[in-house]
Amino acid sequence: MIELKTAREIELMAHAGHIVAGLLEHLAAVVRPGIKTKELDAEALAYLRRQGAAPAFLGYRGYPASICVSVNEEVVHGIPGDRRIREGDLVSIDAGTVVEGWYADAATTLQVGAVSPLARRLTETTRRALEEGIARAIDGNRLSDISSAVQEVVERDGFGVVRDFVGHGIGQALHEDPPIPNFGSPHVGPRLRAGMVLAIEPMVTAGGYEVEVLQDGWTAVTKDRSLAAHFEHTVAITERGPLVLTAQHALTSRQ
Ligand code: MF3
Ligand code: CO
Repeated sequence: MIELKTAREIELMAHAGHIVAGLLEHLAAVVRPGIKTKELDAEALAYLRRQGAAPAFLGYRGYPASICVSVNEEVVHGIPGDRRIREGDLVSIDAGTVVEGWYADAATTLQVGAVSPLARRLTETTRRALEEGIARAIDGNRLSDISSAVQEVVERDGFGVVRDFVGHGIGQALHEDPPIPNFGSPHVGPRLRAGMVLAIEPMVTAGGYEVEVLQDGWTAVTKDRSLAAHFEHTVAITERGPLVLTAQHALTSRQ
């Protein structure tokens, strides 16, 4: 069942979303060659504490950190540790928070210094895939209109869309119904309605779309070790269109 949120509840989620947006912006300013991914995690936890917010991921199904940091061939769920960021890396950071019981979840892929042209194209395509998905988060559409829009953008540019992980509804839990694949034919699945809040999160690879999970039980990497990128926003469907709750100033993305 897909829960509908009231305007007041969406406001509370926008508050959490604003904190996540600020956190990702802060981490983008902190990332530099030589920093360890666990130092980014410590920065994240300190930032959230200063805002009076709690990390959504820490302890979720036993996840051991506040954020996920996935470098290059790592797609999602990279556990922060002793790996040092290097010039030319693609660093995907996924962050979530819970404030007064309401969740927000977002991710971005950062380019550290000068990255390869392929890395740059992959990042831009993934960002655009998310934007096109968000533009379909409209009352009256069907869920797979989002999925198919994402897939189309990705495959048009010759990249692969990950099948094994999906986006999700979000609210008083990090993961709610519905699951939101980043692939599929348009015009099927549940009808989208104002009051639904969706975490849309394309995960895109420069090679094959198959992934595998490392020994740590979390870190998902591309099977062929090709580069990957990941963008995510928490988006409310409103009568006035999609509202991106994890933007710095929750603005409607398209009129
Ligand atoms: N955005 C990711 C997701 O929705 C983050 C989850 S990390 C976890 O699955 F540790 F919380 F699982
Ligand atoms: Co998510």
